[in-house]
Amino acid sequence: MKVVETIEGIRKEIEIAKSTGQSIGFVPTMGYLHEGHLSLINAAKKDHQFVVVSIFVNPLQFGPNEDLDRYPRDFERDEKMAREAGADVVFYPSANEMYPTNMPMMIHVTSGVHVLCGTSRPGHFDGVATVVMKLLQIVQPHAAYFGQKDAQQLAIIMNMVDAFNIPVTIKGCPTIREEDGLAKSSRNVYLSKQERSEAPFLYEALCYGADLIRSGMTSRSKIVDELKQRLSQGSGSIDYIDVLAYPSLERVEQLNGKVILALAYAYDKARLIDNYIVEVQGEK
Ligand code: PAF
Repeated sequence: MKVVETIEGIRKEIEIAKSTGQSIGFVPTMGYLHEGHLSLINAAKKDHQFVVVSIFVNPLQFGPNEDLDRYPRDFERDEKMAREAGADVVFYPSANEMYPTNMPMMIHVTSGVHVLCGTSRPGHFDGVATVVMKLLQIVQPHAAYFGQKDAQQLAIIMNMVDAFNIPVTIKGCPTIREEDGLAKSSRNVYLSKQERSEAPFLYEALCYGADLIRSGMTSRSKIVDELKQRLSQGSGSIDYIDVLAYPSLERVEQLNGKVILALAYAYDKARLIDNYIVEVQGEK
């Protein structure tokens, strides 16, 4: 496995792979890899002969008071994990390589951003869309792989690819969880012992909400109230909890069809997100 730090270098690698008829699978990450990322690499490997993993902590998607400086980083560990997972190349650019000057323009996301992380992290998805657009232009893969844990991000990237006619297939892969249900996340490393032992209650709350829906509750506000009640028993604070139509992410009071229960919960040093997608039973 090669590590390439420049745009010119990664383009060369991809040109060679494509010239020998290999198809390209791409897994964009911000590093500090965990089993969730490895499942994306595995999925890419199943479908493609040549797999590129990018590791870049994108400053554009962090707000001024967010954890850009504290975001966990360990390149040696990431390199080893990517190699063992079978990646062919790791693209590891510096911020200067990606953004040599202030970006003269950015993608401004207008749909799907007035809910969930879009409201609690203003500008976040503009930063995500901008870097993903750049990465897709640099790597030009046949398919790119993203986790469903970031369901809003996935929906926005799918919209972007549609809106700009980018010739790539976007694949969403299931959330990978610890044995106790906590969704794997690079930020879990910042949970205290006590927070880590409490945190599985987030997924339990989502499962409980999904059960309420399965057993016939279709009032969004009632479900949200039930979940708020549960989450208020934790030691952190609720950033948001919502139930929205999926994949449109529209807020409707009377739920029907596919819906997403989504939450963000802030512990002392780690803000965690998770979601659960469920089909409302009965008449539409
Ligand atoms: O999901 C992430 O790790 C990031 O948002 C992404 C897609 C790599 C863009 O920086």
